[in-house]
Amino acid sequence: MASPNQRVIIVGGGLAGLGAAVRIAEEGVPVDLFSMVPVKRSHSVCAQGGINACNDVARQQGYSEWQHMDETLYGGDFLNHQPPVYEMTHWAPQIIDLLDRMGVPFNRTPEGRRDLRLFGGSLFKRTHFSGATTGQQLLYALDEQTRRQEAAGMVHKYEFWEFLWPIIEQTDDGPLCHGIVAQDMRTMEIKSFKADATVLATGGCGTIFGKSTNSVICNGAAAARAYRAGAWMGNAEFIQVHPTAIPGEDKCRLMSESARGEGGRVWVPRKKDDDRAPGDIPEDERWYFLEEKYPKYGNLVPRDIATREIFFMCQEGYGIGGGRMVYLDCTALPDETKKKLDGIFEIYEKFTGDDPREIAMRIFPSVHYTMGGLWTTYSSEEKQPVHGDKGKAVGMQLGAPDNMMTNIPGLYAFGEVNYQYHGGTRLGANALLSCIFDGIFCGPSVVNYLADRREAGNTVDKVPDTFFAEAVETEQKKVEHLVAGKGGENPYVLHEEMGNWMTDYCTVVRDDAGMKKLLEQLQTWKSRYENVSLSDTAMWTNQNLSFTRALGDMIRYAEAIVVGALARTESRGSHYRPDFPDRDDRQFQQTTIASYDAEHDRPDVRYEYIPVPMVEPRARTYGAVK
Ligand code: FUM
Repeated sequence: MASPNQRVIIVGGGLAGLGAAVRIAEEGVPVDLFSMVPVKRSHSVCAQGGINACNDVARQQGYSEWQHMDETLYGGDFLNHQPPVYEMTHWAPQIIDLLDRMGVPFNRTPEGRRDLRLFGGSLFKRTHFSGATTGQQLLYALDEQTRRQEAAGMVHKYEFWEFLWPIIEQTDDGPLCHGIVAQDMRTMEIKSFKADATVLATGGCGTIFGKSTNSVICNGAAAARAYRAGAWMGNAEFIQVHPTAIPGEDKCRLMSESARGEGGRVWVPRKKDDDRAPGDIPEDERWYFLEEKYPKYGNLVPRDIATREIFFMCQEGYGIGGGRMVYLDCTALPDETKKKLDGIFEIYEKFTGDDPREIAMRIFPSVHYTMGGLWTTYSSEEKQPVHGDKGKAVGMQLGAPDNMMTNIPGLYAFGEVNYQYHGGTRLGANALLSCIFDGIFCGPSVVNYLADRREAGNTVDKVPDTFFAEAVETEQKKVEHLVAGKGGENPYVLHEEMGNWMTDYCTVVRDDAGMKKLLEQLQTWKSRYENVSLSDTAMWTNQNLSFTRALGDMIRYAEAIVVGALARTESRGSHYRPDFPDRDDRQFQQTTIASYDAEHDRPDVRYEYIPVPMVEPRARTYGAVK
């Protein structure tokens, strides 16, 4: 049992953070929940298409939890650890039931069953959805549960607080996390917060690439701070580019895979540089290139594949009017189906002025998801196979204290910031699942860890206050240094430059020469960063300070991505290298682990073999015809 004065800190108010807060509070342990934005504005709110799980209807088509696991591993190009994926996919049906009980308005069939739609990387309908705003509905449901715990005094929310650093003591037994330093983003007060366990649920790092489908707060700074403080990164180089987004001046806006799941079709004019309006291009002059090359999966091949195909089409001059966009056409869908997509159609209409019900959308790929992240571990356990399992079943041990713990005891990573589950590419609609699964399944692990710590007699109340005061002072000094900067370098210009370079050289196509240039450039950005000047130096709601501080972290995170991508001389999932076009299991059936070498300010990279206890890796072709 945890003692009554032990607490847990959770950083991040998205699905993973809220799920964990509710689960841990239910176990009787109080939670301090930190978020840079009101939790209902966390990036989970932007998720659109759905959440995957086998259910009875899917089962009748021959689907099973095992099949869901197999698809996730095949989609991830076998870079995922199999036991966590087994456990997640086998918990998925209960997670949907739980969300249903919480009041999530899932779409229903006329018979009253939860409706299902197709999604990428599967031939089965197994994606549950709420129109095309699934993330919002899930987040709001979990927010209600969190507020229930808040009213009961079990959760204390710190909204508009920024996580600055994990407080880590180097003990004789190794590092140990004692809480965090955080800053009130209104008053700019910096404070330490003590806890025997800290969960980072801080999402992805899309902002490193400048424009992405992510919210601007998804800059990876929290993960990078943990990394700079000694936590390892796992597979940092694996970044997902979503095939269908609206390119914008400020950011790219997701046009959900559910549009294709409901029958939307991707095409380009067969004639190069064709600038006729899409409605004027006759059927036989349209090239449905995904359907042609992948007759089995068609428009629903996994994202990395669809992205590359679209990218190469445009590179060869087949983009709309010769440019960098292709059509995503939902105009022929029945009205009933179009209604299910209203949530995204409204976004498209708002930002482009065109009604996608009447005119084909113009889309292009955009950075979307972070498969890599903080390295975590887990305890595996052989399970009794359930109906539909096709062999030995190995999952995770429920409640094992190390589930999703980083290499620093007491510091956990849940949700997108956790590198587990998705391997080389995440399948659409598996993200919401993995985020909620981490909170629900691993919450009890955190609680058990508290008990272990209490039994070992090394709880945070034994640590002298001076230790925490020093941690605050260090962060205070960093702020003073930034505020005093007079070098004249504009952090926003620097970020824009880095985003453009990262997008050009380290997303869809990664060639050796480009990445080497990028790595050199990263060293230049490090020195230029030393000369940044803030345009706002006041100590009140200073967003300029927050962004600039994060930029220094983004540069380090970017370096871990590029170093990992250069060293991985193979192609796998989202990581495509024209100079090494094949997957190389002999050398790279391994996780890239990057640890931060503080002395030389650079990542050190090594590899960890990924065991395959259930599904033997196979070629990932999705039935492509040559
Ligand atoms: O396309 C989408 O609706 C995105 C879903 C996801 O990233 O899982």
